[in-house]
Amino acid sequence: MAGKVMQAVQFVGYGGGAAALKHVELPVPTPTKGEVLLKLEATSLNPVDWKIQKGVLRPIMPRKFPYVPATDVAGEVVEVGPEVKNLKAGDKVVAYLNPLYGGGLAEFAVAKESLTVQRSPEVSAAEGASLPVAALTAHQALTQPAGVNLDGSGPQKNILVTAASGGVGHYAVQLAKLGNTHVTATCGARNIDFVKSLGADEVIDYKTPEGAALKSPSGKMYDAVIHCASGIPWSTFEPNLSARGKVIDLTPGPSALWTFAVKKLTLAKKQLVPLLAVPKSENLDFLVNLVKEGKLKSVIDSKHPLSRAEDAWAKSMDGHATGKIVVEP
Ligand SMILES: NC(=O)c1ccc[n+]([C@@H]2O[C@H](COP(=O)([O-])OP(=O)(O)OC[C@H]3O[C@@H](n4cnc5c(N)ncnc54)[C@H](OP(=O)(O)O)[C@@H]3O)[C@@H](O)[C@H]2O)c1
Repeated sequence: MAGKVMQAVQFVGYGGGAAALKHVELPVPTPTKGEVLLKLEATSLNPVDWKIQKGVLRPIMPRKFPYVPATDVAGEVVEVGPEVKNLKAGDKVVAYLNPLYGGGLAEFAVAKESLTVQRSPEVSAAEGASLPVAALTAHQALTQPAGVNLDGSGPQKNILVTAASGGVGHYAVQLAKLGNTHVTATCGARNIDFVKSLGADEVIDYKTPEGAALKSPSGKMYDAVIHCASGIPWSTFEPNLSARGKVIDLTPGPSALWTFAVKKLTLAKKQLVPLLAVPKSENLDFLVNLVKEGKLKSVIDSKHPLSRAEDAWAKSMDGHATGKIVVEP
């Protein structure tokens, strides 16, 4: 593909939101050692994509401007770099791109073989591209700090998922129900039936007083909270936790980090655990297979052509998606 150009969407500095995304022609990238070149079929957005644009992760990322955002992609391998062992041209795959360099809002992208997994025909490109950040985060939060066995073994646990209608939350509810759990979930009124359809045992509207207080209608005390919303203080969680309950916070602000440190230092039984997802290909492969087997659904909020990527970006920034926002070249 050397010498060929592709359509891509990039930003050249911090800030500016959807209006700062620019449609450009760029050279098709060349895969180097351990990399594959993908012809993209779908890319999903995550809040971290626009948070990078806002400068929340500066100076770590992006590594340089201009930056083509987005990391979660599905497509077809069209070229393999040196030392690629298990992938070949024609393979349909799902990949997580290195967020330091991004690359997802484009017609082609290079992915590391080590974070690229096969996708069988039962899993559409949009369903596959929805998985990496959101489903891996839900999987990590449930299986590690929350200690849920997804084969259904182990003691029953009461789990609360906040923002269960969002990208991470909708996977967290479904994955939690593969384990031996009772799931309480929060979402807005319009999504209550949707979240119940994902398997939640009880669903509360976060805009009601009971919902804002995170009270389980059946009086459950939570062994773990997969906290996908933000801005809820520890004092709201604390009375709803079981004796050794944990709040796994995906978006810890300064006050959550303070609570984390205090609880840790005082050896408190109830803990706040800040979580940073660490993508692993074996887990991505596991999740793609769950979708293939019909045990996990990627729910798509909306699909947008690459030529209207700014609409997808604005929708993600708005924070009211139900499931995942997908961009298609
Ligand atoms: N630490 C990590 O490694 C990691 C990884 C992935 C994501 N995250 C973070 O986790 C958060 C969630 O990500 P996401 O992709 O799931 O976001 P998302 O898809 O944008 O979430 C949107 C959903 O959240 C709901 N919501 C918002 N506030 C709520 C509240 N207080 N109570 C209940 N529901 C609420 C919205 O419902 P309404 O429309 O009804 O308001 C909407 O359906 C983001 O802050 C993201 O940056 C962190």
